[in-house]
Amino acid sequence: MTDTRSIPRLPARDSTLALLADPYRFIGRQAAALSSDVFEAGIFLQPALCLTGTEAASLFYDDTRFIRHNAAPEPLVATLFGRGGVQALDDAAHRHRKALFLDVLRPERQLRLVELVRREWQAALHDWTLSPPFPLYAALQPILTRAVCQWAGVPLADDDVPARSRQLVRLFDSAASGPVRHVLARRARHQTEAWLTRLIEAARRGHTRLSVDTAAHAVSTHVDMEGRPLPVGVAAVELLNVLRPVVAVSVYMTFVAHALHAHREWRQRLGSEPDPRAAMAFVQEVRRHYPFFPAVAARVRTDFAWQGMSFRAGQRALFDLYGTNHDARAWPGPDTFSPERWLDGTIDPRAFVPQGGGDVALQHRCPGEDTAGRLMRLALDILLQSLRYEVPSSQRLAPDLSRLPAVPRDGFVIERVRRIA
Ligand code: HEM
Repeated sequence: MTDTRSIPRLPARDSTLALLADPYRFIGRQAAALSSDVFEAGIFLQPALCLTGTEAASLFYDDTRFIRHNAAPEPLVATLFGRGGVQALDDAAHRHRKALFLDVLRPERQLRLVELVRREWQAALHDWTLSPPFPLYAALQPILTRAVCQWAGVPLADDDVPARSRQLVRLFDSAASGPVRHVLARRARHQTEAWLTRLIEAARRGHTRLSVDTAAHAVSTHVDMEGRPLPVGVAAVELLNVLRPVVAVSVYMTFVAHALHAHREWRQRLGSEPDPRAAMAFVQEVRRHYPFFPAVAARVRTDFAWQGMSFRAGQRALFDLYGTNHDARAWPGPDTFSPERWLDGTIDPRAFVPQGGGDVALQHRCPGEDTAGRLMRLALDILLQSLRYEVPSSQRLAPDLSRLPAVPRDGFVIERVRRIA
């Protein structure tokens, strides 16, 4: 029998407030203080294992050791995720459902989405040139909402765009932002699920035709492993799993604009001549460097020992995405924004986890990484080639690490927008 030691535990009975005060750095800092990539803490009054770093990434995405059933905390299920969706499935049922997303997000479909976003964005530019100073983050959201609904085959009248956009944004922007906004996020979950449930019901009864080759059609007609259609509420949750994250790319597009502003040498370099490799490196570094999702949750599937520590079946585990993307053991100068590392360096892909780790078809890694990357490169292209704008210095520009997601408090205000193409 091999000797095992117990996992170090933080002395505080509950660390929820400390986690919420510094959600991106809490796990990494505590792990460094304890010199351990795993520790136990009280989170939401229950014990949770906190894991960080490249080795822990390989462990966490080993699905013989961790499962997702009943892993996410209720406040996130009731807002960000919904019930019955792919995030909480395991094993064959998960892989079967995941294939639906990989099909919906095939490369040629991604290109069509990017084209629709480009068109919507170009159409909005005239208003931007006439506008007083405005936050880029908020201005991108209706553009993405319009484009993704059209792409997904979800009818959306012009008059409904502001309300639907606001609801989709609340799902990811208000879920973990204090009690009042959390309640708004719960309401937005009801409103958006009811909206898409009506659409899918109407399609299944033959009252509405969904265009084939759209996400709405794919979700509505998807059958589980036993050949049964998804319950309509689950189909609505999965359709939201496509609409919501595309609108959430507004966070990364805002960070693209922030990085162009903060790193003039890169604005100069990318703006002077087309360089797809440099553009790709810039976008990857935005995804590594800037904070979006702090962590993901799972449960220990079965008792096992790792690095001499014993894990017990049923324990909740939180894997630190932000800290792993900033782990000095894998990323020299982890807090420096350095696209060069993607051009010169050797990257350990296991340490790059802004949208989760493991294999996208087999584990819970995000199926939208390419889509997010393409939309960010579109943002780079439009911000550099179609527009001139100014960034007033009298605003809170720094990403706000106490906010989830950590967009600058004022939403990255721009002014004096001029079209140049
Ligand atoms: C805005 C940029 C995005 C970020 C930061 C992001 C981040 C993430 C993260 C952290 C996960 C969880 C990984 C895990 O559980 O281990 C995830 C899963 C997921 N993402 Fe994304 N994502 C983004 C864009 C997208 C897009 C564009 C789509 C689809 C259009 C998408 C659809 C999904 C789905 C369906 C899952 C669940 C996968 C599963 O459980 O197997 N995401 N994403």
